[in-house]
Amino acid sequence: MKKLPILFENNRKWASQISQNNPSFFSRLVQQQNPEFLWIGCSDSRVPANEIIGLLPGELFVHRNVANLVSHTDMNCLSVLQYAVEILKVRHIIVCGHYGCGGVKAALEDQPHGLIDNWLRCIRDIHQRRSSDLARFSTAEERINRLCELNVIEQVKNVGNTTIIQEAWQRDQMVTIHGWIYAISDGLLKDLDACVSSTSDLASLESL
Ligand code: CO
Repeated sequence: MKKLPILFENNRKWASQISQNNPSFFSRLVQQQNPEFLWIGCSDSRVPANEIIGLLPGELFVHRNVANLVSHTDMNCLSVLQYAVEILKVRHIIVCGHYGCGGVKAALEDQPHGLIDNWLRCIRDIHQRRSSDLARFSTAEERINRLCELNVIEQVKNVGNTTIIQEAWQRDQMVTIHGWIYAISDGLLKDLDACVSSTSDLASLESL
């Protein structure tokens, strides 16, 4: 017996719609993927990477985790990054957070959440390091949203400081890291102006 029939029905409709628009779409896609972009985003169900930037299968390589973190000990994220940069040769890496991120909120709460508190610990560290920036905002919601932005900027730095990106820049491979944030409330993206394409860009961002 098939489980979740509605999802299979949705899938058949989706595949036939794509084939109607472009009969060779899937047969061409099976040959290779050639994405220009790597997306590092939050697992939140309201932030579906391909859809919000209007990209089709084959156009976006994706890594998502709770609170869009790039940890230097996360083999999963680093493996995605290495494959994207060294094999797929993506030109752009987009770190995209979102306002009202549950992971960021949970990181600031006093009550324990179990295992995930270890994952979210680095957000508490950002909160402590950037306390003067955050103090400019009067409401808790504004402070959380600013911390969502600061978290993106920290993760852009983390991507830039990986051996993968450092080595790519050393061999003059063009790869740019972007920091974006998405508003669930209106579906719009904002560029956080934390764009880095070189070690000197990264040093400028680090000094902010
Ligand atoms: Co989130």
